[in-house]
Amino acid sequence: MAEAPAAATPAPAETEAPAAAEPEHAAAAEGEHAAAGASHAAPHIEDISFSFEGPFGSFDQFQLQRGLQVYTEVCSACHGLRYVPLRTLGDPGGPGLPEDQVRAYAANLDITDAETGEDRPRVPTDHFPTNLAEGMGPDLSLMAKARAGFHGPYGTGITQFFRGIGGPEYIHAILTGYNGETKEEAGSTFYHNAAFSTGWIKMPQPLTDGQVTYEDGTEASVDQMARDVSAFLMWTAEPKMMDRKQVGMVSVLFLIVLASLLYLTNKKLWWPIKHGRKAH
Ligand code: HEC
Repeated sequence: MAEAPAAATPAPAETEAPAAAEPEHAAAAEGEHAAAGASHAAPHIEDISFSFEGPFGSFDQFQLQRGLQVYTEVCSACHGLRYVPLRTLGDPGGPGLPEDQVRAYAANLDITDAETGEDRPRVPTDHFPTNLAEGMGPDLSLMAKARAGFHGPYGTGITQFFRGIGGPEYIHAILTGYNGETKEEAGSTFYHNAAFSTGWIKMPQPLTDGQVTYEDGTEASVDQMARDVSAFLMWTAEPKMMDRKQVGMVSVLFLIVLASLLYLTNKKLWWPIKHGRKAH
């Protein structure tokens, strides 16, 4: 590390030195685990071919509905979705729930009314609950876009260009990355997780086989539930993805037509000159 000589120089380095030393100290304390994970290198995240990837990809409505179920029955205990309006559950590009189901879903969640100060059931124009109490996890509304599963090679980002940033793959990898090991540190329990940057996460393994019962008969394996909820969280992070792709497609088609016409016009204008005749 380049910090070593810097530590010897006086005043300005003083603030940097302890910060730089800390990770090494922690790594030393963790011993074999730090070595095993080489923990500061990005963990390997498995690519998944989600239905919404590629220029023609679209969200699988039934997968989003299953993901919503996993979120509701499992993750919502510790994670909010504060930026997601409940009414969007009825959007055609999303889970596409019928209106009465959206209303029923909303009514199951209480909210303290900002005007009256009293609790009331939510309505579709309210958002999903915020869950920021002590010990809870981070809000998941934008998580699929806040984490990158793929990097490189050599910091170029080419992998991301071909496979996307890998946000949903990262969430899937976290949910399936446990090996059952735990450790106590500073009064908290940490769970070993191969996909988490430090190798130890504070979230207990949330999914076990058969934890939810899917109405469409899909087998609720940990892998399946993790895929479904990751797809759902991709939708919460980018609810207008379908629209964006459609507009992109139309624009590209338009540009192809425009370019062909311009090419032909150019040919036609220059033809008499190239062939030595006067244009009339
Ligand atoms: C018992 C509470 C609990 C449940 C249930 C739970 N989580 Fe978490 N989750 C946490 C906590 C706490 C953290 C913060 C972990 C940390 O920073 O070490 C977290 C962190 C995360 C992260 C962020 C990892 C990162 O890179 O910062 C993701 C993604 C996540 N949870 C997804 C989920 C999903 C999806 C579910 C449902 C299948 C779920 N969680 C269920 C408590 C929970």
